[in-house]
Amino acid sequence: MTWALLPAAGSGRRFGGEVPKQYLHAAGKPLIEHALDTLLSHPAIDGVVVALAAGDPLWPGWTSLHGKPIVTCIGGGERADSVFAALQALPDGVADDELLLVHDAARPNLCAGDIDNLVDVANACADGAILAAPVRDTLKRADEEVRIVATESRANLWRALTPQAFRRGVLRRALERAKVDGVIVTDEAMAVERLGLHPALVEGREDNLKVTTPADLALAEFLLARTK
Ligand code: CTP
Ligand code: MG
Repeated sequence: MTWALLPAAGSGRRFGGEVPKQYLHAAGKPLIEHALDTLLSHPAIDGVVVALAAGDPLWPGWTSLHGKPIVTCIGGGERADSVFAALQALPDGVADDELLLVHDAARPNLCAGDIDNLVDVANACADGAILAAPVRDTLKRADEEVRIVATESRANLWRALTPQAFRRGVLRRALERAKVDGVIVTDEAMAVERLGLHPALVEGREDNLKVTTPADLALAEFLLARTK
């Protein structure tokens, strides 16, 4: 049984505005619905746990989609707290060695082929796997005056995307350890790396964008109108 965890408890500070970005519409429906739809229409995924902000008035109360269960829980102050809460809310039937896919609610343009590739690699790699894209830009290091000090090599550098896939037991240990150590991890792989493990990088589509700013929403609208 493979479940997905969907952290959706953020307030979208960098985006701004009244409505948290996961509820903003693109191509006719909220970003979170695009994410849920893609995950639950994929044959490899059996259900989703969504982490919501306490008292979230915008959550439509879905309990299933495409005939598969949607479970909700209350998220936490940091993204990792929300993912941990979702992990705890999984049904008992999900064993410690089952694969979990963690995916941002604010990433509406995931394609089924990337889920196929991620699940294939993660099933073969005990340390898990994440979707990622090679860095394409030229990278500059700045000094305190925001002047260029150096051009950094982009060889072997990747941008981490989601979903990120780990076995339930590994993800729980990793998030518990980060919490005990007082380290705020910005993705699940970072927590797993801290255990000394080496998740695999699976090259994913670069248009699997996370909506962070209003410009991203305009781009998502364009991409979703073409592909969905
Ligand atoms: N998230 C969450 N719980 C938090 C913070 C974030 O569940 N405490 C979720 C967001 O809802 C989003 C995903 O994690 O789906 C990725 O986080 P991010 O893009 O940083 O969203 P926000 O934290 O809402 O945005 P910002 O950092 O600009 O405030
Ligand atoms: Mg955030």
